[in-house]
Amino acid sequence: MISGHANRAVFEPIVELLLEQMAGGSPWRADGGEFPASHYADPAHLALEQRTLFTELPQMVALSADLPEPGSQITRDSFAVPLVLTRDDDGLVHAFANVCAHRGAQVVDDGRQCSRRLTCPYHGWSYDLDGTQVGLPDNESFPNIEIPRPGLRAFPVKEEHGLIWVTPNFEAATPEPGLGAMGTELAALDFEDHQHWRGHRFQLDLNWKLVIDTFLEPYHFATLHRDTVFPIFVPNLCHAERFSPHLREVLPRRTIEKLRGTPPDEWDLVPHSAIVYVLFPGSVIVVQVDHVETWRISPHPTDPGRSTVDLDFYLPELPTTESALGHWERSLDLTISTVINEDFAAMAGVQRGLASGVIDSITAGQNEPGLAMFHRSLVEALPG
Ligand code: FES
Ligand SMILES: [Fe+2]
Repeated sequence: MISGHANRAVFEPIVELLLEQMAGGSPWRADGGEFPASHYADPAHLALEQRTLFTELPQMVALSADLPEPGSQITRDSFAVPLVLTRDDDGLVHAFANVCAHRGAQVVDDGRQCSRRLTCPYHGWSYDLDGTQVGLPDNESFPNIEIPRPGLRAFPVKEEHGLIWVTPNFEAATPEPGLGAMGTELAALDFEDHQHWRGHRFQLDLNWKLVIDTFLEPYHFATLHRDTVFPIFVPNLCHAERFSPHLREVLPRRTIEKLRGTPPDEWDLVPHSAIVYVLFPGSVIVVQVDHVETWRISPHPTDPGRSTVDLDFYLPELPTTESALGHWERSLDLTISTVINEDFAAMAGVQRGLASGVIDSITAGQNEPGLAMFHRSLVEALPG
């Protein structure tokens, strides 16, 4: 289980503030704002986002825990170029276009594997973990090719604080995610102590930003989630902090009340909240009481009304008994069904509403500060 103790200096004032607000019966309020509704439905705006946010900026594509050992490989298929990530024998992470140098076949099957070589299933050309081409069946038929030679095209990649970032642009510099103090905080949460368990892909009829918006305020808990989330989380109370362009939002669970009157140096925020890290532009990490989730949100290439979401569950240890397996299957199913039946169902309506052009702007209240922070990051990252 994740401990927040190493981050006590950061988390203690947040707990104090949340307890104070609960005693006063009011939300924590910070800046709200108004943002253009057309940005959810305009194909030209999506094209701008694709060119800038999703091509020029570093993307958090995986946790270090996704590549646990030398030989580990994992694919990512939601960018314009399909990716394969590897960890080599020196422990270094690489990111390649998952495209064979021979005639363009997909080299590594979708998913996760572990092997010394990446072998193309089409004609058997093979590559080392660092992308060098090392195998060429019937070498004599290719008189102009001498191996070893550089084989798979590499993308700029960086591993730090337990996260792996790729800039999906061959010409870009090494990714600089710009996490600031949030980097140290994330490193102290020790995501490496977790293992990937299962994932789920959602294909949605809504703009990618709406998926992130759903994480960014608990104002909707008492209404949209009356029978699911509302009994567990404090409605309409959160704390948010911006680490431009990223942000952290803390959503307190009702159990946080138990900390009132106890010594602050014993407080741990993690068991009494969900901590949401938005890693700009499209990745979200949620630290839950007993596990970690990543949500990777990808816009459709051309349709602003569609997006893909990849949810992954990481556990402190993989289930080894029937009852543990049942517990985690129920937990994943509940997460999926709540977001499908409640959040994404409501958001599909929002998408239609925004696409209708009836309202010019969306409004983030002072009780929705995380939402306003995310949209300010968007405004700042986009030209014009
Ligand atoms: S396309 Fe990969 S070996 Fe031919
Ligand atoms: Fe929700």
